[in-house]
Amino acid sequence: MKKVITYGTFDLFHIGHLNILKRAKELGDYLIVGVSSDDFNLEKGKVCMIPDYERMEIVSAIKYVDEVILETSWDQKKEDILRYQIDTFVMGDDWEGKFDELKEYCDVVYLPRTEGISTTDIKDQIQKGKTKTLK
Ligand code: CTP
Repeated sequence: MKKVITYGTFDLFHIGHLNILKRAKELGDYLIVGVSSDDFNLEKGKVCMIPDYERMEIVSAIKYVDEVILETSWDQKKEDILRYQIDTFVMGDDWEGKFDELKEYCDVVYLPRTEGISTTDIKDQIQKGKTKTLK
């Protein structure tokens, strides 16, 4: 069985998130998703709208996802790859090259992002009182 892992915040879950989870699952048989904790995001200067336990629940309900874990530190990726015997590590290409050191342990794949959407974009649109369709 080929195991795939990917990570993200998945705040205000959107089509870009769904697409990457679908394509990640297509690379193997079993998909594990690391959802970044609220505290880990704060360390990165990111404030989430939806708390981590709800983001985990939402991601775990996606049909492509077999298992969800909480991501709480930068070092965790290597530990997870070894612990769960991961074959393929997947990230969006906004992270291109950033995790190449993990190639020592498994395949590392950067998938193209879905264009034109991000959580930051959604937050900005709401703040400006706009919606994508009315813009
Ligand atoms: N992702 C994607 N296409 C998008 C947005 C995100 O493929 N349009 C991918 C990211 O590359 C990452 C995963 O989805 O692998 C989780 O991304 P996350 O950072 O949670 O989502 P963003 O919408 O990029 O959030 P933010 O704007 O806060 O960075």
